[in-house]
Amino acid sequence: MKTSQHFILAGVMGWPITHSRSPKIHTYWLEKYSIAGAYVPLMVEPAKLEKALRALASLGFSGCNLTIPHKENALEFVDVASPEASRIGAVNCIVVDDDGRLIGKNYDAYGFMASLQEAAPEWRASKAPCVILGAGGAARAIICGLIDAGAKEIRLFNRTLSRAQNLAYDFGPAVCAFPWQERDESLSDAGLLVNTTSQGMVAQPPLDIKIDALPKSALVADIVYAPLETPLLRQARNHGAQCVDGLGMLLHQARPAFYDWTGKMPEVTAALRELIVATL
Ligand code: ATR
Repeated sequence: MKTSQHFILAGVMGWPITHSRSPKIHTYWLEKYSIAGAYVPLMVEPAKLEKALRALASLGFSGCNLTIPHKENALEFVDVASPEASRIGAVNCIVVDDDGRLIGKNYDAYGFMASLQEAAPEWRASKAPCVILGAGGAARAIICGLIDAGAKEIRLFNRTLSRAQNLAYDFGPAVCAFPWQERDESLSDAGLLVNTTSQGMVAQPPLDIKIDALPKSALVADIVYAPLETPLLRQARNHGAQCVDGLGMLLHQARPAFYDWTGKMPEVTAALRELIVATL
């Protein structure tokens, strides 16, 4: 945080970057809290990531967010990585400290857990097995969040089994990897089902899963937010399960980053949600 700074500069680095909703979210908060500053999209090609990150301090940036394809690569260029960033193996937020050092953080686990908490305050990770579909970077962050929240059994399914096995190995005995074909059978005692694959996204086929056996008390979360109601969430709603859409994770991961840069912890409000929904 740079309290002495009069104008806060931050942004999001990605390649491509035009799809990112982060500029809208942070600009909304800068205006709402009357903080002088700007949050800009930064189109940075992968080969230039290190140079772009090293320029942040000289340009007077308080920090930046990172999105596809930079999250994993950025870990090697930061001066200090937070415990979460190290465990997840990716950085989604950088804070430039007073000495110009780059502090790499990851708020995706925070964002996911906060979105569950907002949708279902009574839900507890420790009560029943959690089923995760997909084994990419998002799954890694979500598993990290669930373990820290006390999850004792996480069942991980991925089309490419070896990727799920590697992830299970990294996180220890709470996480078990299973073949993709066995996903339907894992649901009968689950307390949470999360889709972290790209299936169900606009222009992608729906996720292929039968949730008939899932307890109605379970939560079903999708990290896909375009469309807001994915075929999986529609299926879950018709089944009677409680749904958590992917927008909550996106909005909530932005809060601590904004706090780090400005000293103000912003709120996720209905008005902010509507503003972003209108762009989907
Ligand atoms: P991220 O890091 O953002 O999570 P990713 O690494 O591209 O993104 O991961 C996407 C996930 O969607 C992966 O788990 C991928 O499975 P593979 O590891 O087998 O590639 C999963 N995925 C993509 N297309 C899929 C499909 N048609 N059916 C099932 N899973 C799919």
